[in-house]
Amino acid sequence: MRQAAPISRAAEPRRFSRMILTNFYIAYSMRDIQMIRATRRTKGRLMLADAKNSLLTQVSPGTPMGDLLRRYWHPIAGESEFDEMPVRAVRLLGEDLVLYKDLSGQFGLVDRQCPHRRADLAYGFVEQCGLRCNYHGWLYDQDGRCIEQPYEDIANPQARLKERIKIKSYPVQVHAGMVWAYLGPAPAPLLPNWEPFTWQNGFRQVVISEVPCNWFQCQENSIDPVHFEWMHSNWSMRLRGNTGPYGPTHTRLNFEEFDYGLIYKRIRSDTDENHPLWTTGRLALWPNVFCLGDHFEWRIPIDDENTLSVTWAFTRVPHEREPYVQQRIPTWHGPVKDEASGRWITSHVMNQDFVAWVGQGRVADRSQENLGSSDRGIAMLRRHFFDELDAIAQGKDPKGLVRDPQKNTCIPLPIASRHLFIKGLSRAQLLAHPILGSHMKDYAFQYGQPDSVKQAFRDAIGIRVDEQGNVVSL
Ligand code: FES
Ligand SMILES: [Fe+2]
Repeated sequence: MRQAAPISRAAEPRRFSRMILTNFYIAYSMRDIQMIRATRRTKGRLMLADAKNSLLTQVSPGTPMGDLLRRYWHPIAGESEFDEMPVRAVRLLGEDLVLYKDLSGQFGLVDRQCPHRRADLAYGFVEQCGLRCNYHGWLYDQDGRCIEQPYEDIANPQARLKERIKIKSYPVQVHAGMVWAYLGPAPAPLLPNWEPFTWQNGFRQVVISEVPCNWFQCQENSIDPVHFEWMHSNWSMRLRGNTGPYGPTHTRLNFEEFDYGLIYKRIRSDTDENHPLWTTGRLALWPNVFCLGDHFEWRIPIDDENTLSVTWAFTRVPHEREPYVQQRIPTWHGPVKDEASGRWITSHVMNQDFVAWVGQGRVADRSQENLGSSDRGIAMLRRHFFDELDAIAQGKDPKGLVRDPQKNTCIPLPIASRHLFIKGLSRAQLLAHPILGSHMKDYAFQYGQPDSVKQAFRDAIGIRVDEQGNVVSL
């Protein structure tokens, strides 16, 4: 792909607009351009019409994107969260629901309001089977059937009222330490058993945050390689108080589609065509996942203006700690705002991403954008979803659903540097690794890891950190 010549936008605004347009047509295939049939051109800018933007961003029941997203399983909580608090309110795709784990260990996801007289089932309590309303004791199983109505069962059993009562319910499964929900039509597809979920000898953790903006701008970040250079590399350096030098620059990008999503590939000024981020790349899985191999990030719509960020992170223990079997996958919730200053937290990679996402507005106004050649993946992502909305309207399955149990024993993904996670390293090699070494001391992706999880991680790896902050092997 050709690169844009450096140009000052401030100095030559008209030429810059022409350059964006020129590069846009160089960088995009005709099909991309046809996809942007939804764009209008005003004063030289390419932009997405409001109606098309609504198609991408609105997720409530009955909306086209809401219907599309409901065709996939989504992780909505950590399994370990329910050890101490078995009932919690969740809002998902604009629906208010209650997720619980009953006394037999079965998870259920049901409507938030009791169909008797509308009490809040988030304050209900679990029984051996199901969730009981705390107001008059009606009891519901995981399929939403009302299985007890204590007073009616005594006073008026012949009326058989409970047989006519059914509460909204959705299928739930537990996998990889997360609780997953499916809100779409039957038959549900299989919950994808992505290859990293099958890896051995790893410490896993689940990290959850609520981010106050629409899900689609979060997922666009999954196919946006250039932001690494600026948002993570250079901005982090500036946040540390340094003014330079800036990090390696992106010199070449490529974007490809594969069975389960899009791949981006990049070459920077410090890498070449043999680098794993060019030969293999990074993945934006359908419909709302970013996958880097050792961690997945889901962007789950809470509603049109809020997103649940769910991360599953895997750290391979050093050879000296094998065999390692994790007894419990911890879940923790990361804050997004510094309460003292009222500003977004900026110290960790994903917190920086959150700053970008919320900065675009509760729902990004795509009629005001100016796409450049770095945004080819963004255009491919949007085109994919417009195509998928058409497919759903024609009664077809969207892409990436798994329905073959044989295939689902383990779904391989193109993962850069896979050998690091499969074969592992010695502790000395791990600590000396340019990227993984820095992950040993602190959780790199998000602010707020509780001390209990930090300690469990260090116990798994076999390290401690001394008072001077040095990593010491146990
Ligand atoms: S409102 Fe729930 S049992 Fe009465
Ligand atoms: Fe990022």
